[in-house]
Amino acid sequence: MPVRSWFPTLIYSEPLQPAGLDCFNTELADECRRLRQFDAAGRRWSAKNYPGGYTSYASMNELHRFSSTFTDLERKLLRHARAFARALDLDLRGRTVRMSDCWVNIMPPMAAHSLHLHPLSFISGTYYVSTPRGCPGLKFEDPRLDRFMAAPPKLASARAARLTHVTYPAEAGRVILFESWLRHEVAANQVADERISISFNFQWV
Ligand SMILES: [Fe+2]
Repeated sequence: MPVRSWFPTLIYSEPLQPAGLDCFNTELADECRRLRQFDAAGRRWSAKNYPGGYTSYASMNELHRFSSTFTDLERKLLRHARAFARALDLDLRGRTVRMSDCWVNIMPPMAAHSLHLHPLSFISGTYYVSTPRGCPGLKFEDPRLDRFMAAPPKLASARAARLTHVTYPAEAGRVILFESWLRHEVAANQVADERISISFNFQWV
């Protein structure tokens, strides 16, 4: 085959740990809901910027520094971030990989999260705490989409890795990591129950 693939976009998806996830997620879900009750500033910010949902993104975004449950999560996620960095062939010598931000997202019915990326970090991701059946996944966009000038459409039979979007299902207990420049979104939650996730950024500093 004369054609080779270059400049791949890598996405990491793996269970947080082999066992004990139900118990850990119950603890995390309780803490996320308590945080929403406690965080009046976050609820106000969410009412304006995250319609129908709650995020601590603008109010309490260093949860790994203040809660032992989240510190525990940070430790578990760091192992995955390092594995992803190895897959990316990154040379991490000379500085430290460190979680810079960690925040909660609660999406009740109809809450959505529009297209965005995560500035000021190199690896970002989400950990799924509670994912009612049928809740929306995490949709990624081909980073070259704005350069596809006058491109014909893809065949109905196109290979998944050739398409311009890919959606990873939200699955409680699973970690998804991506390079922070990769744009992504979450469609509106169409089911009756709340979808809970924790998002985070890693810096190399
Ligand atoms: Fe995000």
